[in-house]
Amino acid sequence: MSFVHKMVSTLSVLVLPLLLSQFADGASVISIDLGTEWMKVGIVSPGVPMEIVLNKESKRKTPAVVAFRDGVRTFGEDAVTVGVRFPKNSYKYLLDLLGKTYDHPLVQDYKAKFPYYEIVASDRGTPVFIHDENTRFTPEELVAQLLAKAKEFAEISHGEKGQQITECVITVPGYFNQAERKAMKDAAALAGLNVLQLINDYTAIAINYGIFRRKEINETAWYALFFDMGAASTAAALVEYKNVKVKDRGVVETVPQMQVLGVGYDRTLGGIEMTLRLREHLIKGWEAGGGGDVRASPRAMEKLLREAERLKIVLSANSEFYAQIESLLDDKDFKLLVTRKELEDLCADLYPRVAAVITRAVAAAGGAGAGARLVLAGGGARSPPVQAALTSAMGQEPAKSINADEAAAMGAVYRAASLATGYKVAPLNVKDAVVLPVQVTFTRHVDAADKLVSERN
Ligand SMILES: *[C@@H]1O[C@H](CO)[C@@H](O)[C@H](O)[C@H]1NC(C)=O
Repeated sequence: MSFVHKMVSTLSVLVLPLLLSQFADGASVISIDLGTEWMKVGIVSPGVPMEIVLNKESKRKTPAVVAFRDGVRTFGEDAVTVGVRFPKNSYKYLLDLLGKTYDHPLVQDYKAKFPYYEIVASDRGTPVFIHDENTRFTPEELVAQLLAKAKEFAEISHGEKGQQITECVITVPGYFNQAERKAMKDAAALAGLNVLQLINDYTAIAINYGIFRRKEINETAWYALFFDMGAASTAAALVEYKNVKVKDRGVVETVPQMQVLGVGYDRTLGGIEMTLRLREHLIKGWEAGGGGDVRASPRAMEKLLREAERLKIVLSANSEFYAQIESLLDDKDFKLLVTRKELEDLCADLYPRVAAVITRAVAAAGGAGAGARLVLAGGGARSPPVQAALTSAMGQEPAKSINADEAAAMGAVYRAASLATGYKVAPLNVKDAVVLPVQVTFTRHVDAADKLVSERN
């Protein structure tokens, strides 16, 4: 149950594919697209076009994982490696824990999925990881460390000597409520970052899409439906693009505009769910083969999770594949043939939920958006049955032209450039819509007068 609160803003997102600085002394600003599994960073610097920041392995995205082992803190791939042998020491899938109480269903779900973490309730009733006798981490503190790392990547790759980057735009899932948004801002503050704006991820994606199609935007409205299946959740947004006339200091100008018309989401439909079901299938195969109590070993469970993830990806392009793990438990190896059909049967109840997300977005748009083109963002949409569900829900094959992985980070960095001082950019009017779940406790009534405040939150 949800209602759509449309925030009609006159804010201009200022964009230009080749963006040049107006003042030579403008500082670099960044965007951080922090997802459940991956973190991507965009940057704009004076005189340099916007681009994705490379991490220390020269990769364009970094696993959103932080680990602690023998007094050493690691991030990204290194932290993932630590997690293979010491799952409890490696913290991941943190996004969904932000701004929750300990007894929130998503926190309890997290505990059940990753039983090797010791998570307790703090005095304030929020979840806390017990790392060791002396160390505890809140989800906000761990996310802050990821954000600080993103800032550091940007400073290393682009910073002037000793120059700090402090301004950023951070993406959040559109369904994040006020407590979750506040938790993200708290984490950013801990990381030494000033948040120019938290931007809904689908809005960032739609901005990026519009920027590169500015020439296609004219007086005739056209529509795109963005479908984003991530690791933990799925969202769809129906967006309108058209030119509008705006009055600026008495002069009427024609400006391209994007408007979010409707949003649908499913907070628990995502890639992790499929991986976990596949892992359960592997465990049953192991148990059927007379293997030992693999569930009691966090390390073995972690190996199974990684193999299930690999298997899931391979099965999106192959009809069968052998899952194989060396010395899974007690030096015994594991091998099991798994077919795509088996995976699809395991997830059969999930595919109809894909269509439901789309239907909700279309319904929220109240009949507008006929002929919308379907645009995929997010890794989950690569799976063939998901694509099939999408194609039948939309009556068309998805367009494959978007760089699904980087669209949100790029859209957000355009936004950052427009909000920061020192950048000259061309306008795109943005009208956002926010979906607020009904279970949110509001601290204040949101009405027309609050629109700009909400937008800048
Ligand atoms: C807008 O562009 C589309 C496609 O390029 C074209 O079919 C349409 O006639 C244009 N509309 C106006 C009002 O110029």
